[in-house]
Amino acid sequence: MSSNSQSHATPHIDPKGRPIAETVLLPGDPLRAKFIADTYLEDVVQFNEVRNMLGYTGTYEGTEVSVMGSGMGIPSASLYAWELINVFGTKKLIRVGSCGSLQKDIDTYEIIVAQGACTDSRFIEQYNLPGSYAPIASWNLLNNFQKEAEAKGVRTHVGNILSSDVFYNPDNTVPARWAAMGVLGVEMESAGLYAVAASCGAEALGVFTVSDNLVTGAQTTAEERQTAFTTMMELALPLARA
Ligand code: HPA
Repeated sequence: MSSNSQSHATPHIDPKGRPIAETVLLPGDPLRAKFIADTYLEDVVQFNEVRNMLGYTGTYEGTEVSVMGSGMGIPSASLYAWELINVFGTKKLIRVGSCGSLQKDIDTYEIIVAQGACTDSRFIEQYNLPGSYAPIASWNLLNNFQKEAEAKGVRTHVGNILSSDVFYNPDNTVPARWAAMGVLGVEMESAGLYAVAASCGAEALGVFTVSDNLVTGAQTTAEERQTAFTTMMELALPLARA
């Protein structure tokens, strides 16, 4: 077992002695974290309820894993990632979310894997680098996710994504310009997660089911979203062993 009982607290995570695993899955929605714990994990203990950002630790096929909501956007996801790594010893962070497809031929319900994460956020300026930093996924996690996908016969799209601070952009030409650079999809957290993990010596990966297509206007139904999410979870949970 890899977790420690955590007696210390941060402003956002207060485990009160309850365990947090070295691998933490991060859906945006805390109720999604509860769903994952209830559906996939055994021997579950809830370790956080501060601000209703529910976090749980349990086992998946005998390996300890935690799952916690990240909230939406780089500021929220990044502060939880920072605290998990620096205060609670998390080594692997896996964002399991949804994204909008920027490519006509990447359909709703398909899986996008963020090899790299572009951003329109200024978050990475905090590192005061003399150039632009390229936030990338952990090769170990990405490679193992792809091996799981191949073994289970699941098609994925691996490449660049955009982590945007803007959900409602008045400039409707923006998606096409990122798409022209080969960017596959848009979400709101992974570039921050990747930068925090890199700066703190941890591993991170973002994987998404496509909830809508910004080119075709296609959208998903709740029922079909659930099926796609289940497939993605069955590829992500084994990463606790990676
Ligand atoms: N923008 C940002 N995040 C998203 C989107 C989007 O269009 N779809 C799903 N997550």
